[in-house]
Amino acid sequence: MSRLGVNIDHVATLRQARGGREPDPVWAAVLAELGGADGITVHLREDRRHIQDRDLLLLRQTVGVRLNLELAAEPEVLTVALQVRPDQVTFVPERRQELTTEGGLDVAGQAARVGEAVKRCRDQGIEAALFIDPDPRQVEAALTTGATALELHTGRYAAAAEGMRTRRLELAALRGAAQATVAAGLELHAGHGLNYQNVAAVARLDQMAELNIGHSIISRAVFVGLTQAVREMKECIDRAILGPFHSE
Ligand code: PXP
Repeated sequence: MSRLGVNIDHVATLRQARGGREPDPVWAAVLAELGGADGITVHLREDRRHIQDRDLLLLRQTVGVRLNLELAAEPEVLTVALQVRPDQVTFVPERRQELTTEGGLDVAGQAARVGEAVKRCRDQGIEAALFIDPDPRQVEAALTTGATALELHTGRYAAAAEGMRTRRLELAALRGAAQATVAAGLELHAGHGLNYQNVAAVARLDQMAELNIGHSIISRAVFVGLTQAVREMKECIDRAILGPFHSE
């Protein structure tokens, strides 16, 4: 059964909009856990635009499920990660101007540098995932880095309209990358742009271990509350896996 990692960066974004204390992402993590989250995911960006070091320290002390820290493979944030020791890190690319993480990590272009960052985490017992596009070149390079998991970028799949050919092609690309990941013995993760309507096909990919979802859950939480929004996403995932077979 796939784990649900709830990304709570958006709660911190709202707090930073006013520069005050609320809403607090640490509260969000508690409510997400109550809703059945299997993990809490946060991205410590180099510009600290949402999650702050204080959040990470408190989350490390309070989160009872897996704590997954997304970060760039850059020395400053890596040092913080090694001090805080989350259960897992996920290396992502980072550009200061982007609204969110826009593409997967170019592992093929910097395998040695990424491999070194992975090794430093794994030497401390921290699992290390790489967030990559479902592109055979990137998958092949990622498999040589010593990473424990690959998180497949589902953004292009999510952006394609349901029933359209591009959506089927994107799903086929995800399936191919997923098979290569699992065949190499790495854990399979996916995320970005997943919502209540499109999560099922991704959750059904064979041996999907973890889905990281933020925007759609936090958006729904504005209306139904975070615990309920997380509970409903868990239901979507569980129903996708347990329900009758359905292929897109
Ligand atoms: N996975 C990774 C690596 C991400 O960078 C993000 C966005 O922060 C997500 C998952 C969640 O994406 P979304 O907010 O679109 O659900």
